[in-house]
Amino acid sequence: MSRPIYLDPSQPIDRRVEDLLGRMTLEEKIGQMCQYSWVSGVVGEYELMIREGRVGSLLNVTGVEEVNRIQRIAVEESRLGIPILFGLDVLHGYKTISPIPLGLASTWDPDIVRRVSSIAAAEASAEGVKWTFAPMVDIARDPRWGRIAEGAGEDPYLGSVMARAYIEGYQGGSLSDSRSVAVCPKHYVAYGGAEGGRDYNTVDISERTLREVYLPPFKSAVMAGAKTIMSAFNDLNGIPASANPYTLRTILRGEWGFDGFVVSDWNAIGELINHGVAGDIYEAAEKAFKVGVDMDMQGNVYQRALLKLVREGRISEGEIDEAVRRILRVKFILGLFERPYADPEEAKRIVKCREHIEAALEAARRSIVLLKNDGGLLPLSKDIDSLAVIGPLADDREAPLGPWSCLGDPGDVVTVLEGIRSRVSPKTRVLYARGCDVDGESREGFEEAVRAAGESSVAVMVLGESRGMSGEAASRAYLDLPGVQEELLEAVYATGTPIVIVLMNGRPLSISWVAEHIPAIIEAWLPGIQAGNAIADVIFGDYNPGGKLPVTFPYTVGQVPIYYNRKSTGRPPSPTVKWTSKYIDAPYTPLFPFGHGLSYTRFEYSDLEIYPCEVGAGDTVTVRFRVRNIGGREGDEVVQLYIRDMTASVTRSVKELRGFKRITIKPHREETVVFKLTLEDLSFLNHEMKRVVEPGGFMVMIGSSSEDIRLTGTFRVRDYVEFPWR
Ligand code: BGC
Repeated sequence: MSRPIYLDPSQPIDRRVEDLLGRMTLEEKIGQMCQYSWVSGVVGEYELMIREGRVGSLLNVTGVEEVNRIQRIAVEESRLGIPILFGLDVLHGYKTISPIPLGLASTWDPDIVRRVSSIAAAEASAEGVKWTFAPMVDIARDPRWGRIAEGAGEDPYLGSVMARAYIEGYQGGSLSDSRSVAVCPKHYVAYGGAEGGRDYNTVDISERTLREVYLPPFKSAVMAGAKTIMSAFNDLNGIPASANPYTLRTILRGEWGFDGFVVSDWNAIGELINHGVAGDIYEAAEKAFKVGVDMDMQGNVYQRALLKLVREGRISEGEIDEAVRRILRVKFILGLFERPYADPEEAKRIVKCREHIEAALEAARRSIVLLKNDGGLLPLSKDIDSLAVIGPLADDREAPLGPWSCLGDPGDVVTVLEGIRSRVSPKTRVLYARGCDVDGESREGFEEAVRAAGESSVAVMVLGESRGMSGEAASRAYLDLPGVQEELLEAVYATGTPIVIVLMNGRPLSISWVAEHIPAIIEAWLPGIQAGNAIADVIFGDYNPGGKLPVTFPYTVGQVPIYYNRKSTGRPPSPTVKWTSKYIDAPYTPLFPFGHGLSYTRFEYSDLEIYPCEVGAGDTVTVRFRVRNIGGREGDEVVQLYIRDMTASVTRSVKELRGFKRITIKPHREETVVFKLTLEDLSFLNHEMKRVVEPGGFMVMIGSSSEDIRLTGTFRVRDYVEFPWR
């Protein structure tokens, strides 16, 4: 008997899909739309379902042997042998864990993001995971929301660049490559806009905010070739995101032409009942299905409801075919029918290999942001006679892995204490005191910490949040250092020993006391397995930090939301005029602004040229300037280009990032930087939600942060231009 078309790799994918679809029963089709999480206890039941062709995808199955064992059931024991698509949250590494995504965004370096995500893909793929629930591209303007750690921060432009970089890294040149995995940008959409920063909470925003702030990174992801997308938990303007025809049908498939499949977030279809838009699983399934949610993650709603809905005529088999087609297509594109099994040899060869660990180290170094360095306290000399290393995170192996650390092993983590010990000279006396827990009341360790600081020339204090304090279901109402850490700091401060603070945290913290009193502050985020090496490299100047904040740090939680690309208002804040937009009891400015980050060298900006000074339809504006390293060491600067539309028919932000570049310059050398702006880069949505550019003046601001603007210039747009897309 000749081989069926769907098993013939020489046939075009669409033909293979149609052939397979034609052989499937309705039950088998519905099976492809169901995804389950592998939990011990119900394994036997799942195995039966796989054999019957009732499971399309599994998540959380790990280990080459286990993946292959289960795949064998699907491929060899089910009627049609359709392989399982194994999915996992590979967000910032599979086993070689890099910094959390917020840290990766702080690199402002799409190349390193591409590199670490291609490494994560290769490791996952070698162990049979061909689908990652990443990148998380939710814009987050509220640091109370724990999931801010998982994304690229507050800015839609930076977020869009990062989204593309992740996708290029994970998916490689071709999805059929054995080292590639399919991406699943999430959580579509506006999940980061949760009211009060409370996870899973209601999102009520204008269409303008949706389109200008929350959608751009998703659009960028789709344009970069994402073949799956995850629909979110939250309700959006009254309609849950996983049953939202406007975002899922009109925008995603209609406007952007997305041709992949949509998977719900974990039980998000079932939760339509909790949202109160569905009375039972049948209504929930119907609502989600009708707007194009093709796969049910873990809810077991499609499995139980779809057959009945088809039989009752509420859904047609043709509609089911559409969804299944989209899912099967991705399986074929990934080459799963040709290579269903993981390769244990390849896994052994590459997982946590030296090259991968070096990349994690480089990413961690690049992610570090030097927030403050008064009097040039940093870098420290390796010959320093004595050093106290203090704090609950100084020798912690869990926190640096961060949330969603996949199969990261705390045993692989290099702690800050270890990093420091391995670098100082043999003569240096290193004293270590934990001082207190991350989150607790006990002050028992204070005395030892104070003694260690008192006996040392400098104290390095590693403070922040534990691993579980950011990520999903980890919203915080306070943004201070948790527990008694600040008290510990104050006690150590009282010794008079100079202090270097290393922060490890998954969100901006309100650390105004620290910022006021401590001369040197390093924001290390949660840097992954190479934490201690990267941080020690920065502390001793083996690496000159160049990261920049992808999110604003407030003085106090009461300022939230506070983000750089705010509107002017009719009464722009002024320190001297009462009747302006500000507080009477807190500053209106941030503690550390978006884009902020220092270096051990200094950069001077000059010679801004903007040409032509007037542009029309089809033209490009060229912005050119010079950056000179005027300090004594080689260093990285992230040059940032912001624009402001001076007068438009709708209010525009006072600043919008439209370009950036991380450049490395040797001492006393300079570099010419060129940005090109198209009219589309200047466009916005007018009152009819049409994408336009209007005639008038634009300001260009070139800076080292969103507040530290070094050069400004202007140009004019001559024509009114309307773009066909939004
Ligand atoms: C999270 C997703 C994640 C999924 C699978 C959900 O709880 O919201 O981000 O991909 O679980 O682990």
